[in-house]
Amino acid sequence: MEKNWWKHAVVYQIYPRSFADSDGDGIGDLPGITSKMDYLEELGIDVIWLSPVYRSPNADNGYDISDYRDIMEEFGTMEDFDRMLETAHAHGIKIMMDIVINHTSDEHPWFTESRQGRDNPFRDYYIWKDPGENGTAPNRWESSFSGSAWTYDEGTGQYYLHLFAEKQPDLNWENEEMRQKLYEMMRWWRDKGVDGFRFDVINLISKDPAYPEGEELGNGLTSHTCANGPRIHEYLKEMNAAVLEGHSLITVGECPMVDEEMAKLYSGEDRNELNMIFHFEHVSGSLKHPGKYGKWDAPAMDLPELRDILVRWQKGLADEGWNSLYLSNHDQPRCVSRFGDDSAGYRDLSAKMLGTVMHMMRGTPYIYQGEELGMTNPRFEKIDQYRDVESLNIHHKLTVEEGLPEEQVMAYLKEVSRDNARTPMQWDSGDNAGFSTGTPWIGINPDYVEINAEKERKDPDSVFNYYRKLIRLRHENDVIVEGRFDLLLPEDKNIFAYTRTLGEEKLVVLCNFSSKIVDIPEEIRGLLRGEVLIGNYKEAGKEYLKPYEAVVYKQSLR
Ligand code: GLC
Repeated sequence: MEKNWWKHAVVYQIYPRSFADSDGDGIGDLPGITSKMDYLEELGIDVIWLSPVYRSPNADNGYDISDYRDIMEEFGTMEDFDRMLETAHAHGIKIMMDIVINHTSDEHPWFTESRQGRDNPFRDYYIWKDPGENGTAPNRWESSFSGSAWTYDEGTGQYYLHLFAEKQPDLNWENEEMRQKLYEMMRWWRDKGVDGFRFDVINLISKDPAYPEGEELGNGLTSHTCANGPRIHEYLKEMNAAVLEGHSLITVGECPMVDEEMAKLYSGEDRNELNMIFHFEHVSGSLKHPGKYGKWDAPAMDLPELRDILVRWQKGLADEGWNSLYLSNHDQPRCVSRFGDDSAGYRDLSAKMLGTVMHMMRGTPYIYQGEELGMTNPRFEKIDQYRDVESLNIHHKLTVEEGLPEEQVMAYLKEVSRDNARTPMQWDSGDNAGFSTGTPWIGINPDYVEINAEKERKDPDSVFNYYRKLIRLRHENDVIVEGRFDLLLPEDKNIFAYTRTLGEEKLVVLCNFSSKIVDIPEEIRGLLRGEVLIGNYKEAGKEYLKPYEAVVYKQSLR
């Protein structure tokens, strides 16, 4: 297999709980995924990123693992996993496992042992500290899911660290024996035949042994003091040598709080760490106008801000490192609702425009389940419709502790909550959108009658068929994979325009981020020659762009 095959790949993320339910318990499962392999092959993707399917008490929907070598009961059995892997491979699709090794569940046997006593052999697998003065937490670090990152354990009189929920204690990577056990477990999955790993919050694994307070930023933002710690590159190189080296795997590390310079260290080709990372700069809400409550009340980004970030990353990793291209995943609201316009008139056009702008860039594109249908935020009205631990905690904090009015907090959740991405896949217009014959674990977006896979597969002009084409074009055109990226119209308020160049081939990409008709500036009109490779209107713009128009011209420089 070609060494850097993952540079040519398109990845599709499955959030198993919400994908397809085969047994009517209202929860998606592995046989459900297996049954949809034809659909994924039709879409044309190369790799499935599978969100965690390991045994878990589900405090954070599987991102709290209690047994790394077993399958979550609701999702099926190891035989079901093996069948899914085999079926995927038979369809030419690879499986990238999501692996969570910054923390485990508090129900993992390592932790239940660890909390038995201060001299338990597993004590040092986690991060335990004495109380500060007056019995307070050892420092002010906050959990990403609200409140202190430290929980006091009555039995042993110390605090343990959890950068996420109380039920997700952080592992102590300083402990060599623990690290070796993690590597052994990953080799076990690798030898089973999985094709890669997505490493959950991997740049948080190395903690500064001084546990510095850091600036008081509030709302979980203390993670900047916990990210990219002193031994991070040493650990990643060690893990690479122990698990990845010599195997042609795809690896991506989820990395909050990184810039392009750091990304080169994580993903540089001869660094022997990871193939690529996910950064968060473009999905954190406007950084120019930060909110008082972090991402919750930050206004959406306008085009200039979004473009500056994406372009900085395109340029930053042009010669070293590799970009992952994404606008949505299971932690983000639906991209058409956030960056596009999900009202009936523009949903379809703006979903295709966003797909174009991302899929024509340099890097590996990631599609989150339902994005290929243009699925939208459900914008649940009542707190009891939400399931996500982060959303429930912030709701409690803002209403009870900060005293904000209920409607204000609900307005934040409607736009930003992770549950916006977690409503079930919309397969057809039948009961429960064809997701389950039982009662789904979380509500279904009522728009499924209009927006569903069955309908879109039949419609040549659907978002689904547009995504199929975007994927196919990447497979057929090296210029999309390898071409140099150059920005056009850097100051334009509405149009995101750029070129890609490889040898004698050039692409010109134009995307209108507004619902207005906008003139194409004279200075670039001369570039609009050649074949229209893809576009979301029948007639492609030459002098002006229609609302949310996207068009890609391909030309030969000969
Ligand atoms: C990552 C996951 C998110 C999870 C968190 C803690 O950010 O993507 O879903 O809650 O890590 O594991």
